[in-house]
This record gives sequence, structure tokens and C-alpha cells, in this order.
Amino acid sequence: MKAAVWHGRRDIRIEQFPDPPPPGGDEMRIRVDWCGICGTDLEEYVNGPLYIPVDRPDELTGRKAPLVIGHELVGTVVELGPNVTEFELGDRVAPDTLLFCGECWYCTRHLVHQCRKLAILGLMTDGGCAEYVNAPARMCYRLPAAIPSETGALAEPAAVAVRAVRTGGVKLGDTVVIVGGGNIGLLCLQVALLSGAAKVYVIEPHESRRRIARSLRAEQTIDPTAVDSEEALMDLTRGAGADVVLECGGNPATMRLAPLLARPQGTVVMIGLHNEPIGVNLFPVVCREITIKGSFSHIYDVDFAEAVLLLGTGKLIAEPLITARIGVDDAVEKGFERLLHNKGEHLKILISPQNQS
Ligand SMILES: NC(=O)c1ccc[n+]([C@@H]2O[C@H](COP(=O)([O-])OP(=O)(O)OC[C@H]3O[C@@H](n4cnc5c(N)ncnc54)[C@H](O)[C@@H]3O)[C@@H](O)[C@H]2O)c1
Ligand SMILES: [Zn+2]
Ligand SMILES: [Zn+2]
Repeated sequence: MKAAVWHGRRDIRIEQFPDPPPPGGDEMRIRVDWCGICGTDLEEYVNGPLYIPVDRPDELTGRKAPLVIGHELVGTVVELGPNVTEFELGDRVAPDTLLFCGECWYCTRHLVHQCRKLAILGLMTDGGCAEYVNAPARMCYRLPAAIPSETGALAEPAAVAVRAVRTGGVKLGDTVVIVGGGNIGLLCLQVALLSGAAKVYVIEPHESRRRIARSLRAEQTIDPTAVDSEEALMDLTRGAGADVVLECGGNPATMRLAPLLARPQGTVVMIGLHNEPIGVNLFPVVCREITIKGSFSHIYDVDFAEAVLLLGTGKLIAEPLITARIGVDDAVEKGFERLLHNKGEHLKILISPQNQS
């Protein structure tokens, strides 16, 4: 089959790759319709290997590079493992792509996203940027007939947003501020509004992304390159600050800013990933009794299921975030490279592994 295969940093090759083996007992083979490029995939392309095993095979999957990239996928069921009864051939599904051992302390408490052996399809084993992929049936969710397949490709980042907004405890009437209006931030904006937030502000340097935020009913957007974001938010909230701050920027500046935007006794949820120490002044956190929480990934039957449900009802919309649809042969030049160099212009780029030249 044709696939986008990660061989090393700046070395993703579009090449022939062996088909997945026949699906195991609880697995299904999925013919991939679309696979989104995620920020993590881009990081693996530019700065990897970060999660992709290179020297030793992954403990859970037994796989190491080269492997098929991509974990934001949607497709059609084409083969059922012998124990799968709840799906039929032809079902369109979005699979949650977190694989877990099922036995560790965390898994037995259903904190599967914290599994000691956590593995992700498309990072620790072959993923979705290929004609076919195998996935465990219990982690797949059927898409309602009314929604296009493309929408399902956003289920994974939407599940991140669902968990983050839940972690923040956003409730009716809240004022929320999102730091960083990228894919995750714009999904958090929508989920916060669905959770009852009265006003959601979005801080984002790119005008194109601020425009999308406003079209998705952000109360107002703030350009951090033009004004002091903290001052601007304090003005907008008449000096109060936000009930909940969702940090979706993932750089030292956004991470330092986030706690300064919360009201006394407010909550800050850290979602952005930045694997370096950053200097943060915790004085305001102490004096203003602010709670800082992390939110990581999602749990398949908790957050992912809800994300598919919200996308399926049309309450959560993916379309404004999809900025390009490309065939697999163009995955590097028109996918990864474009995201790298035209950040303001692109949000989610979807790859069709079936569309080949
Ligand atoms: N916690 C999780 O489970 C999880 C899951 C997926 C992604 N992430 C992380 O979340 C972050 C966001 O992901 P994404 O895919 O939306 O990435 P993204 O790069 O599309 O979004 C980040 C946004 O922050 C904006 N930004 C940069 N500097 C800023 C500033 N000073 N003030 C305000 N905004 C600023 C950027 O312009 C960009 O739009 C990344 O760090 C990613 O690694 C975390
Ligand atoms: Zn992702
Ligand atoms: Zn486990």
C-alpha cells in the first residue's frame, strides 16, 4: 500500500509499505479516507524523534521506525477481526489512537491515557497516513451519515479540547480566555461555549486565525503583537480576569502569560506542550489563589466519544479549521512543509491516502 513513512528528522517518504496484517481478534482494518497532520507530527518531522522509537522497539507495540505517521484519521471498515460484533463492513469510523496495556495501575482505574506503556498509532506503531490501518474496535466510533468524513478527522484534536474544557470546569456564565488560537485553541473555544461559557476571548497573533475565532463566536480577539495581552484582557473583563484560562500556545511566552489572566481563585489549564523549563513568576498564583491544572490527551470512551457526538450533531464544527485537502503523494511538500512555512495561512491539512497520482 502507499503510505507516508517517517524514517527520520526531515525524512518522511511517500512509498510502498506492507499492508497491515489481518486484523487480530478485537481489531478492524480501516481503509483510511482522511488523515490530519497534527502539531506533534510536524514536531516529529522537524525535531524528531520525540516519541517515535528509533533504537529500541516500543514496549507495547514492538515497533520502531520506519513507521507510518498520522493519528488523526477517519475511514471505512473493510475487515473485521473474528471477535468484532458491533461494527459492519462499510461503517465509517473515527478511531481513538491511544493504545494501552490494560493492566497497569492507571489502566485498571481507567486512566488509560496515563498508561505506563502508552503508545499512539502513528507514533509508536503504524498510523493513519496510509491506505489501510488496523485499530481496536472498542476505540472506534461510528460517524453519523449526515457528517462528511473530513469532519471525523478532527475528532482527535476535538477530544483534546473536550478533556481540557472539562478539566477547567467551565460552567454556565463563565468568562474564558484561550491563549493561542490554533487548532486546539479554536476547538477549545467552541467546546467552552457549548459548556455554557458566556464569553470566550482568544489571544492569537495571526489575523487569519483571529478571524476564524470571531466567526466561531469568540466574544473578542486580542492580538498579542499589537497590545499587552494581560492589560487588554483586564480591560475587557473590567479588571476581573477570566474564570478559566486555557493555555493552547505551548511556548514560554504563552505559558508565562496564562496564570496572569485568571481571576482570583480562577483556574488555568495547561494544554500546550513545551518540554523545556520556563521561568514563571508564581507570586500571583499564590496571592490570587489560582489553580493550575494540566490536561493531557483524552480517554476513548469519555472524551473521544463525546467529541464524535458533538461533531456528529454539528454543534462542534470542523470545516473552518480545514485549510487544505491533499493527496498522499503531496504529503511532504503541500502538507508538512506548508504547515512549517505558512503557519498563519494553514490550520488543519488533511491527507487522503486513497488519492494518489
Ligand atoms: N495536552 C495535550 O493533550 C495536547 C494535545 C495536542 C496538542 N497539544 C499542544 O497544544 C498546543 C497547541 O496545539 P495546536 O495544534 O493548536 O498548535 P498551533 O501551533 O496551531 O497553535 C498554537 C497557537 O499559539 C499561537 N501563539 C503563538 N505565540 C502566541 C502568543 N504570544 N500569544 C498568543 N498566542 C500565541 C500561535 O500563533 C498558534 O496559532 C501545542 O503546544 C501542542 O503541542 C497538547
Ligand atoms: Zn493530534
Ligand atoms: Zn496500562
